Amino acid sequence: MGKTHPNNKMNNLSGDKWLFLTQSVMKTSYPKIYGFSLRQQHGANKPPQLMKDLISFFTKERSTVLDPFAGVGGTLLGASLCNRKALGIELSGRWITIYKKVCKQEKIKPQGIERGDCLEVMDKLINSRRKFSLIITDPPYNINLKRTMCRGRYRNRNRQTEFTNFSKNCRDFSNCTTYAGYIAKMALFIQMSSKLLLTNKFLVIMTKNAYQDGKYMNVSRDVASLAESSGLTFKGEIIWYQNGVRLRPYGYPFTYVPNIIHHNILIFRKESQNGRRTKSF
Ligand SMILES: C[S@@+](CC[C@H](N)C(=O)[O-])C[C@H]1O[C@@H](n2cnc3c(N)ncnc32)[C@H](O)[C@@H]1O
Repeated sequence: MGKTHPNNKMNNLSGDKWLFLTQSVMKTSYPKIYGFSLRQQHGANKPPQLMKDLISFFTKERSTVLDPFAGVGGTLLGASLCNRKALGIELSGRWITIYKKVCKQEKIKPQGIERGDCLEVMDKLINSRRKFSLIITDPPYNINLKRTMCRGRYRNRNRQTEFTNFSKNCRDFSNCTTYAGYIAKMALFIQMSSKLLLTNKFLVIMTKNAYQDGKYMNVSRDVASLAESSGLTFKGEIIWYQNGVRLRPYGYPFTYVPNIIHHNILIFRKESQNGRRTKSF
Protein backbone atom coordinates (compact mmCIF):
# COMPACT_ATOMS: atom_id res chain seq x y z
CA MET A 1 0.00 0.00 0.00
CA GLY A 2 1.31 3.50 -0.90
CA LYS A 3 2.11 6.17 1.67
CA THR A 4 0.04 9.22 2.64
CA HIS A 5 1.68 12.48 1.52
CA PRO A 6 3.00 14.36 4.60
CA ASN A 7 1.05 17.51 3.53
CA ASN A 8 -2.20 15.62 3.08
CA LYS A 9 -4.71 17.25 5.48
CA MET A 10 -7.69 15.82 3.63
CA ASN A 11 -7.54 12.05 4.20
CA ASN A 12 -5.20 9.11 4.80
CA LEU A 13 -5.02 7.93 1.20
CA SER A 14 -2.00 7.19 -0.88
CA GLY A 15 -1.66 9.12 -4.17
CA ASP A 16 -2.90 6.27 -6.37
CA LYS A 17 -6.04 5.68 -4.29
CA TRP A 18 -6.65 9.46 -4.17
CA LEU A 19 -6.45 9.66 -7.96
CA PHE A 20 -8.75 6.66 -8.41
CA LEU A 21 -11.45 8.23 -6.22
CA THR A 22 -11.48 11.54 -8.11
CA GLN A 23 -13.10 9.87 -11.13
CA SER A 24 -16.49 11.41 -11.94
CA VAL A 25 -18.10 8.02 -12.58
CA MET A 26 -18.26 5.18 -10.05
CA LYS A 27 -19.65 1.72 -10.59
CA THR A 28 -20.62 -0.56 -7.72
CA SER A 29 -22.24 -3.93 -7.66
CA TYR A 30 -24.08 -5.38 -4.71
CA PRO A 31 -21.97 -8.28 -3.46
CA LYS A 32 -23.84 -10.25 -0.82
CA ILE A 33 -21.67 -9.08 2.07
CA TYR A 34 -22.02 -6.90 5.17
CA GLY A 35 -25.47 -8.26 5.98
CA PHE A 36 -26.86 -7.67 2.49
CA SER A 37 -29.66 -10.21 2.90
CA LEU A 38 -30.97 -8.24 5.92
CA ARG A 39 -30.31 -4.79 4.45
CA GLN A 40 -32.02 -5.54 1.14
CA GLN A 41 -35.40 -5.31 2.94
CA HIS A 42 -34.82 -1.56 2.52
CA GLY A 43 -35.26 -1.05 -1.22
CA ALA A 44 -32.97 2.01 -1.27
CA ASN A 45 -30.04 0.69 0.80
CA LYS A 46 -26.57 1.74 -0.36
CA PRO A 47 -23.46 -0.46 -0.54
CA PRO A 48 -21.24 0.07 2.54
CA GLN A 49 -18.16 -0.34 0.30
CA LEU A 50 -19.25 2.67 -1.84
CA MET A 51 -19.88 4.74 1.30
CA LYS A 52 -16.51 3.67 2.70
CA ASP A 53 -14.73 4.94 -0.44
CA LEU A 54 -16.49 8.31 -0.21
CA ILE A 55 -15.92 8.69 3.53
CA SER A 56 -12.27 7.72 3.26
CA PHE A 57 -11.74 10.41 0.60
CA PHE A 58 -13.46 13.24 2.47
CA THR A 59 -12.17 12.61 6.02
CA LYS A 60 -9.17 11.63 8.08
CA GLU A 61 -9.26 8.48 10.20
CA ARG A 62 -11.18 8.81 13.48
CA SER A 63 -13.17 11.84 12.22
CA THR A 64 -16.89 11.97 12.94
CA VAL A 65 -19.43 11.66 10.14
CA LEU A 66 -23.18 12.42 10.20
CA ASP A 67 -25.88 10.69 8.11
CA PRO A 68 -29.30 12.29 8.78
CA PHE A 69 -31.20 9.75 6.59
CA ALA A 70 -29.46 6.59 7.76
CA GLY A 71 -31.87 3.86 6.58
CA VAL A 72 -30.37 0.43 7.33
CA GLY A 73 -26.95 1.98 7.78
CA GLY A 74 -25.01 1.94 4.47
CA THR A 75 -23.08 5.03 5.63
CA LEU A 76 -22.66 3.85 9.22
CA LEU A 77 -21.24 0.51 8.07
CA GLY A 78 -19.01 2.31 5.55
CA ALA A 79 -17.67 4.50 8.37
CA SER A 80 -16.90 1.44 10.51
CA LEU A 81 -15.05 -0.16 7.59
CA CYS A 82 -12.62 2.79 7.41
CA ASN A 83 -12.23 3.49 11.12
CA ARG A 84 -14.39 6.63 11.35
CA LYS A 85 -16.97 7.47 13.99
CA ALA A 86 -20.51 8.11 12.78
CA LEU A 87 -23.91 9.26 13.95
CA GLY A 88 -27.03 8.31 12.04
CA ILE A 89 -30.56 9.69 12.28
CA GLU A 90 -33.49 7.63 10.97
CA LEU A 91 -37.24 8.10 11.20
CA SER A 92 -38.18 4.44 11.02
CA GLY A 93 -37.55 2.04 13.91
CA ARG A 94 -37.74 -0.88 11.48
CA TRP A 95 -34.58 0.22 9.62
CA ILE A 96 -32.70 0.92 12.85
CA THR A 97 -33.48 -2.60 14.11
CA ILE A 98 -32.12 -4.06 10.87
CA TYR A 99 -28.92 -1.98 11.15
CA LYS A 100 -28.38 -3.28 14.69
CA LYS A 101 -29.00 -6.88 13.58
CA VAL A 102 -26.45 -6.48 10.76
CA CYS A 103 -23.84 -5.18 13.23
CA LYS A 104 -24.46 -8.15 15.53
CA GLN A 105 -24.28 -10.66 12.69
CA GLU A 106 -21.12 -9.09 11.19
CA LYS A 107 -19.48 -8.48 14.60
CA ILE A 108 -19.21 -4.74 13.92
CA LYS A 109 -19.49 -2.32 16.85
CA PRO A 110 -22.68 -0.31 16.14
CA GLN A 111 -22.30 3.41 15.49
CA GLY A 112 -24.63 5.86 17.22
CA ILE A 113 -28.09 6.03 15.65
CA GLU A 114 -30.99 8.19 16.83
CA ARG A 115 -34.57 7.61 15.92
CA GLY A 116 -36.48 10.74 14.89
CA ASP A 117 -37.10 13.45 12.32
CA CYS A 118 -33.67 14.63 11.21
CA LEU A 119 -34.83 18.25 11.18
CA GLU A 120 -35.58 18.02 14.92
CA VAL A 121 -32.50 16.00 15.83
CA MET A 122 -30.20 18.28 13.78
CA ASP A 123 -31.69 21.31 15.52
CA LYS A 124 -30.77 19.76 18.89
CA LEU A 125 -27.25 18.99 17.63
CA ILE A 126 -26.86 22.64 16.52
CA ASN A 127 -28.03 23.86 19.95
CA SER A 128 -25.52 21.60 21.66
CA ARG A 129 -22.79 23.00 19.33
CA ARG A 130 -21.91 19.64 17.78
CA LYS A 131 -19.75 19.77 14.64
CA PHE A 132 -18.97 17.10 12.04
CA SER A 133 -16.08 16.54 9.64
CA LEU A 134 -18.41 15.22 6.93
CA ILE A 135 -22.15 15.03 6.35
CA ILE A 136 -22.86 12.32 3.84
CA THR A 137 -26.37 11.15 3.13
CA ASP A 138 -28.91 9.66 0.83
CA PRO A 139 -32.24 11.45 1.46
CA PRO A 140 -35.52 10.43 -0.20
CA TYR A 141 -35.02 11.57 -3.81
CA ASN A 142 -38.47 13.00 -4.37
CA ILE A 143 -42.05 12.74 -3.19
CA ASN A 144 -43.59 9.29 -3.73
CA LEU A 145 -44.18 9.42 -7.46
CA LYS A 146 -47.21 7.99 -9.13
CA ARG A 147 -46.66 5.21 -11.62
CA THR A 148 -47.00 7.34 -14.71
CA MET A 149 -44.04 6.09 -16.74
CA CYS A 150 -46.31 3.91 -18.86
CA ARG A 151 -49.67 5.61 -18.24
CA GLY A 152 -50.80 2.55 -16.30
CA ARG A 153 -50.75 0.11 -19.19
CA TYR A 154 -48.04 -2.30 -18.20
CA ARG A 155 -48.68 -2.69 -14.46
CA ASN A 156 -45.76 -3.72 -12.24
CA ARG A 157 -43.40 -4.67 -15.05
CA ASN A 158 -43.20 -1.05 -16.07
CA ARG A 159 -43.52 0.89 -12.86
CA GLN A 160 -41.27 3.76 -11.92
CA THR A 161 -39.37 2.23 -9.04
CA GLU A 162 -38.62 -1.02 -7.26
CA PHE A 163 -39.02 0.77 -3.94
CA THR A 164 -42.22 -0.29 -2.24
CA ASN A 165 -41.44 0.38 1.43
CA PHE A 166 -43.41 3.63 1.60
CA SER A 167 -43.98 4.86 5.15
CA LYS A 168 -47.10 6.68 6.33
CA ASN A 169 -45.16 9.06 8.56
CA CYS A 170 -45.93 12.67 7.57
CA ARG A 171 -42.38 13.67 8.59
CA ASP A 172 -40.92 11.39 5.94
CA PHE A 173 -39.61 13.74 3.22
CA SER A 174 -41.07 11.47 0.56
CA ASN A 175 -44.57 11.98 2.01
CA CYS A 176 -44.62 15.72 1.24
CA THR A 177 -47.72 16.35 -0.82
CA THR A 178 -45.93 18.44 -3.48
CA TYR A 179 -42.47 18.62 -4.99
CA ALA A 180 -42.27 22.25 -3.78
CA GLY A 181 -42.93 21.02 -0.22
CA TYR A 182 -40.15 18.45 -0.60
CA ILE A 183 -37.72 21.11 -1.87
CA ALA A 184 -38.62 23.37 1.09
CA LYS A 185 -37.72 20.55 3.51
CA MET A 186 -34.50 19.84 1.63
CA ALA A 187 -33.62 23.55 1.94
CA LEU A 188 -34.00 23.33 5.74
CA PHE A 189 -31.94 20.15 5.88
CA ILE A 190 -29.13 21.78 3.85
CA GLN A 191 -29.11 24.96 5.97
CA MET A 192 -28.83 22.86 9.13
CA SER A 193 -26.10 20.72 7.57
CA SER A 194 -24.10 23.86 6.84
CA LYS A 195 -24.32 24.86 10.52
CA LEU A 196 -23.19 21.42 11.68
CA LEU A 197 -20.18 21.21 9.36
CA LEU A 198 -16.71 22.29 10.34
CA THR A 199 -15.27 24.96 8.03
CA ASN A 200 -13.64 23.63 4.86
CA LYS A 201 -15.42 20.29 5.25
CA PHE A 202 -17.83 18.60 2.86
CA LEU A 203 -21.53 17.88 2.47
CA VAL A 204 -22.15 14.92 0.12
CA ILE A 205 -25.75 14.32 -1.02
CA MET A 206 -26.93 11.41 -3.16
CA THR A 207 -29.81 12.34 -5.42
CA LYS A 208 -31.68 10.73 -8.26
CA ASN A 209 -33.45 12.41 -11.16
CA ALA A 210 -36.87 11.22 -12.23
CA TYR A 211 -39.27 11.16 -15.15
CA GLN A 212 -42.85 12.12 -14.45
CA ASP A 213 -45.85 13.23 -16.52
CA GLY A 214 -43.85 13.14 -19.73
CA LYS A 215 -40.95 15.28 -18.42
CA TYR A 216 -37.48 14.80 -16.98
CA MET A 217 -37.27 16.13 -13.40
CA ASN A 218 -33.77 17.41 -12.68
CA VAL A 219 -33.78 16.89 -8.91
CA SER A 220 -29.99 17.04 -8.66
CA ARG A 221 -29.96 20.50 -10.28
CA ASP A 222 -32.63 21.72 -7.82
CA VAL A 223 -30.74 20.34 -4.79
CA ALA A 224 -27.46 21.87 -6.03
CA SER A 225 -29.17 25.30 -6.32
CA LEU A 226 -30.42 25.00 -2.73
CA ALA A 227 -26.94 24.24 -1.44
CA GLU A 228 -25.42 27.13 -3.35
CA SER A 229 -28.10 29.48 -1.96
CA SER A 230 -27.06 28.31 1.53
CA GLY A 231 -23.52 29.50 0.87
CA LEU A 232 -21.96 26.10 0.13
CA THR A 233 -19.61 25.78 -2.84
CA PHE A 234 -20.48 23.17 -5.45
CA LYS A 235 -17.25 21.22 -5.97
CA GLY A 236 -18.28 18.32 -8.15
CA GLU A 237 -20.60 15.51 -9.03
CA ILE A 238 -20.03 11.76 -9.22
CA ILE A 239 -22.32 9.70 -11.38
CA TRP A 240 -22.87 6.45 -9.53
CA TYR A 241 -23.96 3.58 -11.73
CA GLN A 242 -25.60 0.62 -10.05
CA ASN A 243 -24.50 -2.53 -11.81
CA GLY A 244 -27.30 -4.82 -12.88
CA VAL A 245 -30.33 -2.49 -12.83
CA ARG A 246 -33.12 -4.00 -14.91
CA LEU A 247 -34.07 -2.00 -18.02
CA ARG A 248 -37.75 -1.42 -18.71
CA PRO A 249 -39.39 -0.64 -22.06
CA TYR A 250 -41.10 2.56 -20.84
CA GLY A 251 -41.48 4.38 -24.17
CA TYR A 252 -40.97 1.49 -26.56
CA PRO A 253 -41.89 1.47 -29.44
CA PHE A 254 -43.25 5.01 -29.56
CA THR A 255 -40.96 7.54 -27.93
CA TYR A 256 -37.90 8.29 -25.84
CA VAL A 257 -38.29 7.68 -22.10
CA PRO A 258 -35.00 7.23 -20.22
CA ASN A 259 -34.11 4.31 -17.98
CA ILE A 260 -32.51 6.29 -15.14
CA ILE A 261 -29.84 3.89 -13.91
CA HIS A 262 -27.59 6.37 -12.15
CA HIS A 263 -27.53 8.46 -9.02
CA ASN A 264 -25.93 11.91 -8.81
CA ILE A 265 -23.59 12.23 -5.85
CA LEU A 266 -23.30 15.98 -5.25
CA ILE A 267 -20.29 17.35 -3.41
CA PHE A 268 -20.34 20.71 -1.62
CA ARG A 269 -17.81 22.39 0.61
CA LYS A 270 -18.35 24.85 3.43
CA GLU A 271 -15.67 27.38 2.67
CA SER A 272 -14.37 30.02 5.02
CA GLN A 273 -16.23 33.34 4.54
CA ASN A 274 -13.70 35.62 6.24
CA GLY A 275 -10.99 35.73 3.61
CA ARG A 276 -8.68 33.49 5.66
CA ARG A 277 -9.24 30.68 3.20
CA THR A 278 -7.09 27.67 3.51
CA LYS A 279 -5.95 26.65 0.05
CA SER A 280 -9.12 26.37 -2.01
CA PHE A 281 -8.82 25.08 -5.55
C1 LIG B 1 -32.86 6.62 0.51
S1 LIG B 1 -33.15 6.05 2.11
C2 LIG B 1 -31.53 5.94 2.83
C3 LIG B 1 -30.95 4.55 2.70
C4 LIG B 1 -29.59 4.41 3.37
N1 LIG B 1 -28.58 5.10 2.65
C5 LIG B 1 -29.20 2.93 3.51
O1 LIG B 1 -28.10 2.54 3.09
O2 LIG B 1 -30.02 2.19 4.04
C6 LIG B 1 -33.82 7.46 2.91
C7 LIG B 1 -34.20 7.23 4.35
O3 LIG B 1 -34.60 8.47 4.92
C8 LIG B 1 -35.56 8.19 5.93
N2 LIG B 1 -36.26 9.47 6.23
C9 LIG B 1 -37.21 10.09 5.49
N3 LIG B 1 -37.59 11.25 6.08
C10 LIG B 1 -36.84 11.37 7.21
C11 LIG B 1 -36.74 12.35 8.23
N4 LIG B 1 -37.53 13.44 8.25
N5 LIG B 1 -35.83 12.16 9.23
C12 LIG B 1 -35.03 11.05 9.25
N6 LIG B 1 -35.10 10.08 8.31
C13 LIG B 1 -35.98 10.23 7.30
C14 LIG B 1 -36.41 7.09 5.35
O4 LIG B 1 -37.06 6.35 6.37
C15 LIG B 1 -35.36 6.26 4.58
O5 LIG B 1 -34.91 5.18 5.33
